[in-house]
Amino acid sequence: MPSSPRNDLFLRACRGEPHPRTPIWIMRQAGRYLPEYRRLREGRDFLTLCKTPELAAEATVLPVKVLGVDAAILFSDIMVVPEAMGLELELVESRGPVLSPPVRSEADLDRLHVPDPEEELGFVLDAIRCTLERLEGEVPLIGFSGAPWTLFTYMVEGQGTKSFSRAKGMVYARPDLAYRLLEKITEAVGRYLEAQIRSGVHAVQIFDTWAGALPPALFREFSLAYLERLVLRLAPLGVPVILFAKDAGHSLERIAETGCTVVGIDWATPMGEAKKRLGTRVTLQGNLDPAILYAPPERIREGVREVLEGYGRGERHVFNLGHGILPDVPPDHVRLLVEAVARESPRFHRDGEGR
Ligand code: CP3
Repeated sequence: MPSSPRNDLFLRACRGEPHPRTPIWIMRQAGRYLPEYRRLREGRDFLTLCKTPELAAEATVLPVKVLGVDAAILFSDIMVVPEAMGLELELVESRGPVLSPPVRSEADLDRLHVPDPEEELGFVLDAIRCTLERLEGEVPLIGFSGAPWTLFTYMVEGQGTKSFSRAKGMVYARPDLAYRLLEKITEAVGRYLEAQIRSGVHAVQIFDTWAGALPPALFREFSLAYLERLVLRLAPLGVPVILFAKDAGHSLERIAETGCTVVGIDWATPMGEAKKRLGTRVTLQGNLDPAILYAPPERIREGVREVLEGYGRGERHVFNLGHGILPDVPPDHVRLLVEAVARESPRFHRDGEGR
């Protein structure tokens, strides 16, 4: 088990232990909206940043230093796993990630392998160790992976998509192939997250960004079943597991039933509704609409109060946005968000002002 950081608000909220205010971290908190990130990125491509442990560590700690968030999330990308499985990865400006060749047949699938994380994703594990040194026990470090289904969509499509025609096409036309590919990805993700935990991360988040591409019954069959396996596999390692399945509000109860520690709530489900449906069996994370950061300060504070009041009093809420931060929001507004959560949240806690 990793040693406990000095600021343990996030871990306390994951475990439902009393704490004086609601912790906050932000999905994609180390990104282009931060001038400090753009400076670090200058003259280098994104993947070089990911694959140079000292630079990845520097990007990871940036938001802790400049925003004062209560947790760091490892600077990396979900696409490093498909790359390690044997696909070629390119990040094309304006097109996003491109994987080649796309996986469309039995033969394509058989060419993929389950990577040994120490060998083939060692740069991520080195970045974790380097980040932990730089954090000096200040805040917890969150590791992550893409969910099997979300990685499947990129691997089958070969790139981002609006219609998911190839990925969903395979689910309907060749479910046998889809199951086999999802199995292989799940094994790769399981080993990868275990290795991250062994390297010292304090929690892991699994991003199922494209959960909403599937109708509810298929989400359960082609995504949730594999998420559940991952949760069961990671449980003995003893760190909190956060499941963030975007646009899967229809299945919140089932997501919670996997046994995960934290359920990420996207901005489309009101926090009050999520709390009513899930209660305090799990910790809820979220879920301010990322676009509110374009609004003037008073509107942002109002949004923060709405989310805090939606959750209400209790020790199982981690504040976050309801999806990743957008690349052109004013950094001052993000700082204001972090301050507003610190200022407004103590009254919702027994150990704060809410006695
Ligand atoms: O949260 C963090 O700060 C940690 C870092 C992180 C990145 N990507 C850095 C990144 C995390 C957790 C991710 C996850 C990720 N990557 C997801 C799931 C998260 C989500 O938002 O639902 C997905 C779908 C990806 C795939 C990906 N990577 C896309 C679609 C893009 C291009 C979009 C864009 O903004 O250009 C990336 C690139 C990427 N990943 C950047 C960053 C900071 C931008 C790279 C740059 O130009 O500097």
